[in-house]
Amino acid sequence: MIDQINQLKTEIQSFRIENVDSLEAFRLQFLSRNGKVQSMFGLMAMVPKEEKALVGKAMNEVKNLAQNVFDTAKSKLASNETKVFGALDDISLPVEPTYTGSFHPLTQALDDIKQIFYRLGFNIADGPELEDDFHNFTALNFPPDHPARDMQDTFFIRKSDDADVNDLVLRTHTSPVQIRLMKEKKPPIRSIMPGRVFRNEAVTAKSYFQFNQVEGLYVDERVTMGELIETLVMFSKLMYGSDVNYRVRPSFFPFTEPSIEMDIWWDNDTGGQWLEILGAGMVDPNVFEAVKIDPEKYSGYAFGMGVDRIAMLRYGIDDIRLLYDNDIRFLKQFTS
Ligand code: PHE
Repeated sequence: MIDQINQLKTEIQSFRIENVDSLEAFRLQFLSRNGKVQSMFGLMAMVPKEEKALVGKAMNEVKNLAQNVFDTAKSKLASNETKVFGALDDISLPVEPTYTGSFHPLTQALDDIKQIFYRLGFNIADGPELEDDFHNFTALNFPPDHPARDMQDTFFIRKSDDADVNDLVLRTHTSPVQIRLMKEKKPPIRSIMPGRVFRNEAVTAKSYFQFNQVEGLYVDERVTMGELIETLVMFSKLMYGSDVNYRVRPSFFPFTEPSIEMDIWWDNDTGGQWLEILGAGMVDPNVFEAVKIDPEKYSGYAFGMGVDRIAMLRYGIDDIRLLYDNDIRFLKQFTS
């Protein structure tokens, strides 16, 4: 007998009341005069005297349960909710937190870089990832036998011995976009050019075959080296805080003269170290000649920064490969 009562209890508990129709079905099945609860009470006559108290109690419990489920569902439906109701629903239970996704650390760093240069009066330009030798090297004043053109660093898509055929390469830096911009537009030009670049290097914690750069170019009359350094210092402070520790060193690039590099001090467990975040300099007159801008009238500065480096520095990431694995356990840590 008790088994039958429990069976009925389970039936009541698993019944899903979703709308007025199923509410009525529930009433007919369990609570009406011919319903299962009434029929259950009809069996009371067969129960031995000494068990009557116990069985009666269990039956009353089931009856109350059915009535409760009915009443709750009815008032919920009346208050116009569309959820599925049943005896097992407890809408006050806490839910499992869900991961709603986050921006990739590279995207976050890039957004901040764009924001800073936007404030400094730069607009945004872009160019193709598949470049020709002219834009990636020649117009940027790379001598014909420069080692950077070597197979070791450059992914060649088309390589030809015929001097009239332009080699096709995956761009090794964003500087070719400078060339495209200067061919298209007259000064003043003040733009940043974010983009992905490629180098045929061994994959290690510190280097990868692709990474991201933001190129910058400012061309006008009387642009000076002082303005370049001022802009880069301003950038570092806005990016890393006004107490950032930076240094500027002389360097060499074929397309700038003079050339510099900027390092940021990275504090870590092993005592810290200088990390190079960008190369820069004054646009070389030969570059102006290649794009037919008069170097007597105009001057300009250019810079190219590594977005991966900047993101790694900012978030304390010590292996560049983490940026490209798309491991959810890594990405989850950048929910903002
Ligand atoms: N293109 C250089 C590089 O990839 C960086 C650079 C850009 C240097 C502009 C000077 C001016 O290393």
